[in-house]
Amino acid sequence: DYQGEAIKRAPVVTVMGHVDHGKTSLLDYIRTTRVAAGESGGITQHIGAYHVETPHGMISFLDTPGHAAFTSMRARGAKSTDIVILVCAADDGVMPQTIEAIQHARAAGVPMVVAMTKIDKEGADIDRVKNELVAQEVVPEEWGGDIQFVGVSAKSGEGIDELLEALLLQAEVLELTAVPSAPAKGVVVEARLDRGRGSVATLLVQNGTLKKGDIVLAGLQMGRVRALLDETGKAINAAGPSIPVEILGLDGTPEAGEEFIVVADERKAREVANFRQGKYREVRFARQHS
Ligand code: GTP
Ligand code: NA
Ligand code: MG
Repeated sequence: DYQGEAIKRAPVVTVMGHVDHGKTSLLDYIRTTRVAAGESGGITQHIGAYHVETPHGMISFLDTPGHAAFTSMRARGAKSTDIVILVCAADDGVMPQTIEAIQHARAAGVPMVVAMTKIDKEGADIDRVKNELVAQEVVPEEWGGDIQFVGVSAKSGEGIDELLEALLLQAEVLELTAVPSAPAKGVVVEARLDRGRGSVATLLVQNGTLKKGDIVLAGLQMGRVRALLDETGKAINAAGPSIPVEILGLDGTPEAGEEFIVVADERKAREVANFRQGKYREVRFARQHS
């Protein structure tokens, strides 16, 4: 295994919670207020992941559509998230998918920070949310538990700074590290085919540094990184640990949750990809004919 100096890395955060409790609004608020506008447009792209700089450190967010990507990543054994923001609307309280989200986070062994959303609304009742979560054994620090609870509004922005601070505090406890000098590896967040640009894959680098020109093996696909783009669409030369990045240059579109690695030998990478594609076709054929 590669030896190199480990340094502190940013936490990777996923938002989970009941339908309509404000997951997208929260992520959009953070994105639009915290991600520096790109050179190209001024508006940040809606890619499946982004990172923000705060006065006390960097945080990366995975914008998974509901629980699906999180669950599929977990099913594939990829641990993509360091912290779950459990979103629970202050005017609605604990609902079935809130409980499901708690179960997902626990099963994955990922710590939670609770964001009580919509605190600007008339029916908001923070104590009720706390009590209902305590019933699920999610106990706030101020009540003797070990979970940080923060009230937020994606309308006014109230509590958002506090939430980011809570995430960084939780990250400190986790002592997250990575080795930037290692060959990059990580997980596929999403991928699509773009007319003109070909395969566009959003990757989360978990260790090492991904660079332009690197040979990437991602699931059944491989290719040489032709360009790296940050969440504003700006071309960059490299992406270090915990940084999400869009890459161009893969032969096809890998699946969300698949792992990627950088390899030294292009011919070997192609062999592995071809072998995996052959296996994949065999399995599909066998399923269709059984
Ligand atoms: P799904 O992805 O469909 O599960 O929903 P979601 O959890 O992403 O919720 P979304 O962000 O789409 O918000 C649902 C509704 O609540 C929208 O109408 C939002 O405008 C509203 N909403 C979200 N956050 C807040 C908030 O902080 N305050 C108020 N007043 N409304 C909010
Ligand atoms: Na919604
Ligand atoms: Mg949503």
